[in-house]
Amino acid sequence: MQETRIQDRGEAGTIDPAEAPGEKAPVLEARIRGGVAAELRHDSAAKHVTGTARYLDDDPEPPGMLQVFIAMSRHAHARIVSMDLSAVEAAPGVVTVLTAADIPGQNDYSPVFGDDPIFPTDKVEYVGQPLFAVAAETIHQARAAAKLARADYEALPHAVDFDAALAAADAAGEDLLPPHEMRKGDADAVLGRAGRRVRGRLEMGGQDHFYLEGQIAYALPGEDGDVLVRSSTQHPSEVQHNVAKMLDVPDHAVTVEVRRMGGGFGGKESQPALFAAVCALAAHKTGRPAKCRLDRDDDMEMTGKRHEARIAYDLAFDADGRVEAAAFDHLIRCGYSRDLSGAIADRAMFHADNAYALPAARITSRRLKTHTVSNTAFRGFGGPQGMLGMERAMDRAAFELGLDPLDLRKRNFYPAEGAETTPYGMPVTDSVIGEIVEELEETSNYRARREAVKRFNEGNPHLKKGLALTPVKFGISFTTTHLNQAGALVHVYKDGSVALNHGGTEMGQGLFTKVAQVVAEEFQIDVTHVKITATTTAKVPNTSATAASSGSDLNGMAALNAARTIKDRLIAYACERYQVPREQVVFLPNRVRIGNQEKRFRDLVGEAYLARVSLSSTGFYATPGISYDRETASGKPFYYFAYGAACSEVVIDTMTGENRLLRVDILHDVGRSLNPALDRGQIEGGFVQGLGWLTTEELWWDGAGRLRTHAPSTYKIPTANDRPDDFRLALWTKGENRAETIFRSKAVGEPPFMLAISAFSALTDAVIAAGKGRRFPEALDAPATPERVLAAVNEVRG
Ligand code: MTE
Ligand code: MOS
Repeated sequence: MQETRIQDRGEAGTIDPAEAPGEKAPVLEARIRGGVAAELRHDSAAKHVTGTARYLDDDPEPPGMLQVFIAMSRHAHARIVSMDLSAVEAAPGVVTVLTAADIPGQNDYSPVFGDDPIFPTDKVEYVGQPLFAVAAETIHQARAAAKLARADYEALPHAVDFDAALAAADAAGEDLLPPHEMRKGDADAVLGRAGRRVRGRLEMGGQDHFYLEGQIAYALPGEDGDVLVRSSTQHPSEVQHNVAKMLDVPDHAVTVEVRRMGGGFGGKESQPALFAAVCALAAHKTGRPAKCRLDRDDDMEMTGKRHEARIAYDLAFDADGRVEAAAFDHLIRCGYSRDLSGAIADRAMFHADNAYALPAARITSRRLKTHTVSNTAFRGFGGPQGMLGMERAMDRAAFELGLDPLDLRKRNFYPAEGAETTPYGMPVTDSVIGEIVEELEETSNYRARREAVKRFNEGNPHLKKGLALTPVKFGISFTTTHLNQAGALVHVYKDGSVALNHGGTEMGQGLFTKVAQVVAEEFQIDVTHVKITATTTAKVPNTSATAASSGSDLNGMAALNAARTIKDRLIAYACERYQVPREQVVFLPNRVRIGNQEKRFRDLVGEAYLARVSLSSTGFYATPGISYDRETASGKPFYYFAYGAACSEVVIDTMTGENRLLRVDILHDVGRSLNPALDRGQIEGGFVQGLGWLTTEELWWDGAGRLRTHAPSTYKIPTANDRPDDFRLALWTKGENRAETIFRSKAVGEPPFMLAISAFSALTDAVIAAGKGRRFPEALDAPATPERVLAAVNEVRG
């Protein structure tokens, strides 16, 4: 690969929207505006905050658009004995009612296993499962009509929590997905003879994505049975494929387009296929456009969430506090169907070691069925669950061994030298966790604050503070190796302006801005000349979900390759036309030097057009050198690791369990940042979302399997008020990806989520202080809500 590192990328700049592409291109500036590493704001930032960014529900509706309401099951597990929808069909405004019988192709919207019926035929398996849909002139008519359905059910036994799920699985002799195991050395033998052995168990809750824009899609019927679907999805290709298989048409008959999502967070990887399929079915049956937009309560009941996990840990330590062996047993609550649970449970295992070298390890995982909504991808994709198990074990071990938890952690980091391998046999050759933690320990003033916290706690009977500094090591790549591919399509128009398209989707993370910066950098033109266009399956086919944090790694490279192809053609043209050797064609900011003359970029492009040079190209990228053999649970599933660390200080009220995060210091490695402004946004947002998972967001199902926290009144996401007043965030300036990623940057979408584990550890620390250090709060599960903190305080004091 050509040397892609560019020195001195210039001042922080933002795009001036007043400057239209192609106009008055300045001829002699020293550097381009908005190239790689510029602190460019999100391309839609102003539109986001002024309400002018278009989301699907803002699109003007074509005449005759039907509104679709999906009726949901009220039973956790039941056989459908009969269903009479005649009153629904006869209700005012109803145009059609959709059931399984209307589906010409496959009645399934699952990503892999074929076990997510669009509409059930014989039984329902969770409260909130789609039953049938009503397409009416207005959404109110559709919703009112749905209530007129008559159905008889025969209740079947259901399992909602871990104990019930485990009992059911053991009785059946089968889990929802086969168990998996990773082994390094003989951990059990070491554990069996260990002098210092620490064992315990932690349970952690799920999490609703709470994207600001809920699930939505609409379908526009075309000629010959074709359909155009606009969907709020991270995975246009999968929506395309699911709609096609449902309609029994080839993929080419379905086009899926998405300009942006109002947040996805993993909740729009597999889930959107349902709503797209229902709209497409309505359009197919009636010949009219159809839209389906869920309201918040329905969205929360109907769509999948983060997987709950129960993790048992068992660690052996030597006299110096070094881990000798570790065993983790994961139980994962998958919900009623398989969805992406296998890969998610695997990623939890891949992160059971977090940042620690384990000389011997055994990690097992069972994937259990519950009669609840099918859990799905959520930022970190199982990584947070696996990592939290390890960090709880570290806190517990530090308590048992009488060490400061930071000291214990530091003794066990993967060394920088790269001599250690993970429990899945991958050498960790890029560890910078020791360096990062060392630096953060200094800049956060950890040692002095440890003393200050101790003094505070001695002087305060009711309020107790806690402090913790925890590391993150997160593997970057899809662990399903073939997904690590991407395509892009770049057009250069004759006026020198550029249209950029790639397979990645924009959900607020700033992917479009970053990829535009890459293309601007490659052509050496201001980013204002690069138009970012909506993702569509018609331009780039067979894409992977924008997920696994790899959006900019994959699509940035694909776009770079497309731009490079066009640039090479321009260079070849210039060499030929002006009879200069290749080295004498140099792309300068907004201009090109050819021998001893200079031309504006747009002028060279105009000339090349007249000379009949192709100014459009696709680009493709596949991550090199990765593979994972699931049979032997070994290989190199990740191209590299992203690292970071956070130090959190909390205070709890021991009378009520209320708690606050007072201060957080974060040092995070983004390699050489493509855009520091966007990266900081991802780190702050990821951290706060992780804080929500671990402290306030509680999914609560009742005995009948009904989710009782399905609105913001009962489900508490963090608000601006929960952001600590003192939030200190730094990108690690020494960061540079040793792997050959796009401009040596590192993925940033998910890893910072897990920095919030520091807050959970700090809460644990505060609870220990409440008990005067006599007991460890074994029962403090996540989320550490006020109720749980209070119970833990009582536990350690009791
Ligand atoms: N940031 C915003 N604002 N909105 C989102 O929905 N999703 C996260 C993360 N950051 C998300 C986000 C998740 S789950 C992933 S996998 C990555 O963004 C995906 O985008 P990337 O690969 O371009 O980082
Ligand atoms: Mo992110 S959970 O990989 O969409």
